[in-house]
Amino acid sequence: MLNVIKHPLITHKLTQLRKKETLTRDFRYNVSEIAALMAYEITRDLPMKKINIETPVAHCDTTVLAVDVVLIPVLRAGLGMVEGIVNLLPDAKVGHIGMYRDHETLKPITYFSKFPDNLSDSVIMVLDPMLATGGSASAAISVIREAGAKTIKLVSIVGAPEGVARIEKDHPDVQIFLAALDTRLNEHGYIVPGLGDAGDRLFGTI
Ligand code: PRP
Ligand code: URA
Repeated sequence: MLNVIKHPLITHKLTQLRKKETLTRDFRYNVSEIAALMAYEITRDLPMKKINIETPVAHCDTTVLAVDVVLIPVLRAGLGMVEGIVNLLPDAKVGHIGMYRDHETLKPITYFSKFPDNLSDSVIMVLDPMLATGGSASAAISVIREAGAKTIKLVSIVGAPEGVARIEKDHPDVQIFLAALDTRLNEHGYIVPGLGDAGDRLFGTI
């Protein structure tokens, strides 16, 4: 269920994110743009329905999206991915789940959740730029599932093999989308080479 989306624009922008000298403004901008480019690929298989419309010239049969999309960013860093995707999917609803990793144990702590109704009939895109141990994403997906979600896609920018394995084990039906699969985690649970702490770089709290 792992898809690593390879595209020159995504890779170029990800390189800007990885550079340690990239400051908050450019970091934010590139996270948003990568999220939008990934969403363009991820939405390729969304179901469509036939409708008949009237152009200024004639009636014509055409198709429109047949499903609601719900974006659920994992706070904080997932927030940086929302705007780019909402620009493509302006009718998408947005839920939120607040989660942080305890720095000692690396275990996820949930501190907030608020979702729109009707998760069960929607395509859910869980947004978190970093998939490290996979603990946060796995816990977030469990909470979202308990709220009724059935079709869940996890959208992360950089992933580690450990995080991918964790999601595949805990949630085998969840599709995972990455812009890059990096080498490993270091002893502090950071992705190597990664891009550092995404939330801190996005919000300037370093
Ligand atoms: C980061 C990141 C993920 C999590 C990934 O969040 O945004 O949510 O770590 O790590 P994991 O796969 O090992 O769980 P962090 O805890 O730094 O919180 P923040 O987004 O508020 O900075
Ligand atoms: N969270 C981050 O923000 N970066 C990592 O490398 C790992 C977890």
